[in-house]
Amino acid sequence: MTSTAADISSTLLDWYDAHARSLPWRNPPGNPVPNDAAWPYRVWLSEVMLQQTTVAAVKPYFAKFTSTWPNIEALAAASDEEVMAAWAGLGYYSRARNLVKCAGIVAARGGFPRTEARLRELPGLGAYTAASIAAIAFGERAVVVDANVERVISRLFAIEDPLPGSRKTIRQRADEITPRSRAGDFAQAMMDLGSQVCTSKTPRCLLCPLQDVCAGRKLGDPERLPVKPPKKAKPEIAGTAFWIEKDTHVWIVTRQGTGMLGGMRALPDDGWSARADGSGRRPLEGEWDTIGTVRHTFTHAHLTLSVERTSAVSDPSGQGEWWPIARIDDAGLPTLFAKAARLAIR
Ligand code: ADE
Repeated sequence: MTSTAADISSTLLDWYDAHARSLPWRNPPGNPVPNDAAWPYRVWLSEVMLQQTTVAAVKPYFAKFTSTWPNIEALAAASDEEVMAAWAGLGYYSRARNLVKCAGIVAARGGFPRTEARLRELPGLGAYTAASIAAIAFGERAVVVDANVERVISRLFAIEDPLPGSRKTIRQRADEITPRSRAGDFAQAMMDLGSQVCTSKTPRCLLCPLQDVCAGRKLGDPERLPVKPPKKAKPEIAGTAFWIEKDTHVWIVTRQGTGMLGGMRALPDDGWSARADGSGRRPLEGEWDTIGTVRHTFTHAHLTLSVERTSAVSDPSGQGEWWPIARIDDAGLPTLFAKAARLAIR
């Protein structure tokens, strides 16, 4: 490590000692890694929840999961349905499916592996998550690069190549400044700097502990970095969800497979293939009322979902269950269908 790299890491750790955010899954700065079997579990759970999701959104879910399932054995013993329902609203549901799988594997092997390479073999753990768990849960030196870190490094070293091509350089630079000790604190210091100070649109350079060594700041317009490729416009898709009532109950299905929202409870829908003339496939013959539309944005598309209602005297075709409308909040509907249900109940 050059002396500049060592200076950067120690400056950042000093800053973290004074400014670390206090978060429910965090060890206060400077403390040794807790010697507690539930510690890696809490780190893993928080890191999976924090993939593509904000700290504010994760907090209540982390509290609910750790009180319901305080350790990996408890989570491994839970049913898929319970876990999927508890995850409802947090999005990116493949994470919940992998969470259940991973809990089973880890409980069976008697705990988490501690190296980045072995962690990477577990379901749902990509390069970022494996590195962050190795560093935070076990104090292993690992180079942890998430979107916040990409931004900090791109600015600190004025990396002008656009993402994603610049990832290799970013990683090398991050590796150079990652210290051998306090790996977890260093990773989280980078995350905090990125989310609190070196923010995307208006970085607060005057508060930054690295302001004197930041090449991006010297250029005068650090907010320009990292250079991103132009965003592709998301396609618009349309579909219909069906609210079928019988005796104060609504017909709920469980979505099949591992595709979008797979494993989650939902209202029946037309496969999101609504036609302009409204002639999509319906699960029951009879009178249908259109009660409105909801909008929802997925990673790959914007969806306009119209919601249609009918009353049934018999079961619709296919698998499903009659769910008490008064307890719809307990069904664990993902946000899209929770919005549709709200429209129907209003
Ligand atoms: N984002 C991902 N992991 C995080 C962590 N451990 N602390 C704060 N933000 C995070």
